[in-house]
Amino acid sequence: MSQKKRGLVIAIDGPSGAGKSTIAHLLAKRLGYLQIDTGAMYRAVAVLISRTALDLADLDAVQRFCADLNVRLETVAGCQKVFANGQEVTSQIRTAEVSVMTSRISALKPVRDALLLAQREMGRDGGVVLEGRDIGTVVFPDADLKFFLTASPEVRGKRRYDEMIARGEQVTLRETIEAAVQRDAQDTQRDIAPLKQADDAIAIDSSDIGIEDVVDRMEAFVREKTAQRESYS
Ligand code: DC
Repeated sequence: MSQKKRGLVIAIDGPSGAGKSTIAHLLAKRLGYLQIDTGAMYRAVAVLISRTALDLADLDAVQRFCADLNVRLETVAGCQKVFANGQEVTSQIRTAEVSVMTSRISALKPVRDALLLAQREMGRDGGVVLEGRDIGTVVFPDADLKFFLTASPEVRGKRRYDEMIARGEQVTLRETIEAAVQRDAQDTQRDIAPLKQADDAIAIDSSDIGIEDVVDRMEAFVREKTAQRESYS
């Protein structure tokens, strides 16, 4: 007999700046679920790799590097902390350089394989909101609910720009929009686990609706799904 799950597995995929992290955080909080920011995990690997002289074209070397990889997310007082091979890298993962490096290393199979296993393990028991690019298509193709969150490039670029300015980075709006569009193209066009809407995902465009409204919509789907599941069991 299968063990009863603690809650649903909820996948939120979409391009950068669509609001996934904020929305996943709020939704997880409302539901008492765990939020798993898989982008933060890829970013943590990028920070580690950028401290080495690893040749990204040498897949055997990347494979050896990934054999010892250990990326962990921890929520402390409502804030998510990211650890890579035992070191906390939370404050280093959101810079423009790390974003570029993350897009490159997230196209490498050994990196994806290593994080895929870790993500499946974290979500195994349910009660989780996982956000990323390939959650509904690759990591949890049988997720109980899948959302695909989008927004126009201008809105997404502006959100990233505001975040970066708030952190004290020197960037222009134009270059932030261009960089976001370029990274999304790379994420969409890569061979392994590209950014793609799952056939059974619910698409939500967050360009013109507030974050709380998006979370309300998602929560309504979650409540409906949970009620359905309870009526079958
Ligand atoms: O969500 P984010 O912007 O923090 O993601 C950073 C990068 O990691 C982005 O270029 C896409 C990549 N990524 C991925 O390939 N697969 C995921 N599940 C999550 C993120």
